Order: sequence, then C-alpha cells, then structure tokens
Amino acid sequence: MVITSISDLRELARRRVPRAIFDYADRGSYDEITIRRNREDLDAIELRQRVMVNLTELSARTTVLGEEWAMPVAIAPTGLTGLFYGNGEIHGARAAQAFGVPFCLSTMSICSLEDVRAAVKAPFWFQLYLMRDRSFNEDLIARARAAGCSALVLTLDLQVQGVRRQDAKNGLSVPPRLTLKNMLDIASKPEWALRVLFGKRRTFGNLDARMKNTGGLRTLSQWIASQFDPAVTWQDVQWVRDRWPGKLILKGILDPEDADLAARTGADAIVVSNHGGRQLDGACSTIAVLPEVVDAVSGRCEVLFDGGVRCGQDVLKALALGARACLIGKTFLYSLAAMGEAGVALALDILRKELLVSLGLTGQTDVRAVSPSILRRTGAIRFPLSLPALPAAPSATRDS
Ligand code: GLV
Repeated sequence: MVITSISDLRELARRRVPRAIFDYADRGSYDEITIRRNREDLDAIELRQRVMVNLTELSARTTVLGEEWAMPVAIAPTGLTGLFYGNGEIHGARAAQAFGVPFCLSTMSICSLEDVRAAVKAPFWFQLYLMRDRSFNEDLIARARAAGCSALVLTLDLQVQGVRRQDAKNGLSVPPRLTLKNMLDIASKPEWALRVLFGKRRTFGNLDARMKNTGGLRTLSQWIASQFDPAVTWQDVQWVRDRWPGKLILKGILDPEDADLAARTGADAIVVSNHGGRQLDGACSTIAVLPEVVDAVSGRCEVLFDGGVRCGQDVLKALALGARACLIGKTFLYSLAAMGEAGVALALDILRKELLVSLGLTGQTDVRAVSPSILRRTGAIRFPLSLPALPAAPSATRDS
C-alpha cells in the first residue's frame, strides 16, 4: 500500500490491530456528533489561494513555551498507547525526539514514566489525571520531576467519562482479555499479538502497583469511574501548581469563560480540546470555539489546539485562528499502530509537507506569521469581530 496521507495510515492501523483497540482510538462518545463536528468544521473553512509570492524559503519552525519546535505540532497524551504497538510510548517518544517536536506521555500509558525516560534523551511531557487518592498524584508528579519532564499537562475534561458505546460493546479491558469473541480477531493479527500480547508490558505502567488492589480484570470504563476524582475544581489546579514548578498546561478548555478562569491560574498554556469528541457529545467543535478562546485569553498564556487534526491544512487553519500549535492524538495512534516508530515519523513528515505546501499556496512563507488573513470569511466558522481586517492589495506581498 502506498501511503500518502494520514487516512492511509488509519486504514493500515485498522487492518493491523484488533478491533477493540482500533475502535478505542477511532470512535467517540454517545452519538458521535462532536467527533464528526470537529472534522466537518475544519473542512468547512476555506483558505485564500494567493499567487506570485516568492516561496523558495518555507519554514515550519516555531517557538512554543520558550522551546524551538520543528513544526507547530506535538504528540497528544493518549491512553493505552502501548496496546497499539508493543512499547508504543517509546516508539512515539523516539519519533518525536528525532523530528524535533514534543511527545506527551499519558497517565494511562502502558510504558511507565521510567521506561520512556530510559529510552529517550529529549525531555518529554507528562499528562496527569487527578485521582481520588491524592497521594498517588503526588507520587506521579514526583516521578515526572525525577524523569525530567519538561511540562505537566493537567487534563480537566474527564472528571466523569463520556460513554463510548463501542468500547462497551467491545468489552475493552486492560490488559486485553482473551475472550472467544476476540480470539479470532487476534489470531488474524499475529504480528500485533507477538509485539503486544506476548510482550513485557500489557498493563498501565504508571499505575501497576495501585491497580493490584482493584479486584483484577474490569472493563476500562469501570476502572476509570472508580479511580478518577469527580470532585476536582479550579482549586485543585492550584494544588498541582504548588507541587509542579515547571511548565503547566491545562487541557480540555472548550469555552471562553473557562479559558479566562484557566488563564487566571497562571498556567503557561491551555489546550482547546473536547477530548477528540470522546467526552461531551453535542459540544461544539474545537475549531469553532478557538477564536473566542484566543480572545478571552488575550495573550495571558499560549493557546494550543486539538480535535480532528488529520492533515497539514488543519494545522494551518488552527494557526490562522490563533492557535500556537496543534496536538495530534488519533493521528498519532493510527500511525503508531500502522508501523511503529517509522509510522509516527512518516505521519509527522506528511503533516509537515502538507503544512508547508499549503502555507506557500496561501502566499505565506513562515508559520509564525500566519494570521486570519489567509482565511475566507464564509463557511461554518463565525469569526469574532476582533479579528484583524483583511490585508491591503497584493503590493504588500510583492516579491522585491
Ligand atoms: C482517555 O483519555 C480516553 O479518552 O480514553
């Protein structure tokens, strides 16, 4: 199969991993309205094609949180990554390091903080869920500090879990359960089984010790419901801040009022996110609300974006609407499941090429200078009034 897009990697992933694992990444909550909206609204944005601009030097490099990135894309924290490909978190972190973009390890990873630390040189980010047992969170924060993590990403939008009907139907559990129903499926994916099922790591690496007391096998959502703390409020962000002196990123903002509250905590960045359409079904797309969030924050912290990013044009659109950079979750898992580290490297390369070509065809040469002026003001997105006026005549961009 000739791979030319993230869709191709998704198709390869679908063939290579068991259905329950693929669906965990691919599907959303309830009727999956929001997961669809993320894509539809991105697709509805029209770019302005501009011509006759010197495009010999195109740059995707940028600076985020004071660090140089090879392009404005980071790997999002994703649960169960090591079930998509044996040692998946290590593969992802290595690909990100080689490319020059950040990798974020999830609390719900299969490889532990220490596993990843030992396998890569570059510092990575760590994502945290607040659990009922706060001493456990203190322990995780201390481990992230010891591992030299360069940022802590606190997820705010999973106090209660949006029901993913497909996961329930598939009986998704960690470690994967060998039921009669999924035996056949697994038998048709021998390479996956060798790497994952017969590999060393099959449970939550960061949580192993605690999970031993939770009564053996349960479905993932039951386990999450029993562990995640539904009582957390903004005060708990301060609790984390007091224990984490490094960069703090708040993930899961989808409303301008919450964006304002998040900025008031002194966080270094927020991620505009609806958890990839996996939580509140019926919520708006992330791209629709991005301009309002950027307005509400008004420069107090950096604004990152996720939700449906499948090509470089999506990244360009998010930058145009005020995001500093994008996170890729599903796109990362598809590429990892398809081909391990090489797949992730390929996905990053595809995204960068698409981004650079599209950047050039909008008459721009540097991602850092992208503004709303590259968008046509029609379509699904209601632009806030504060966006700058359209640029003047083409003489401003004439090649000298
Ligand atoms: C975890 O973050 C999930 O969405 O399953």
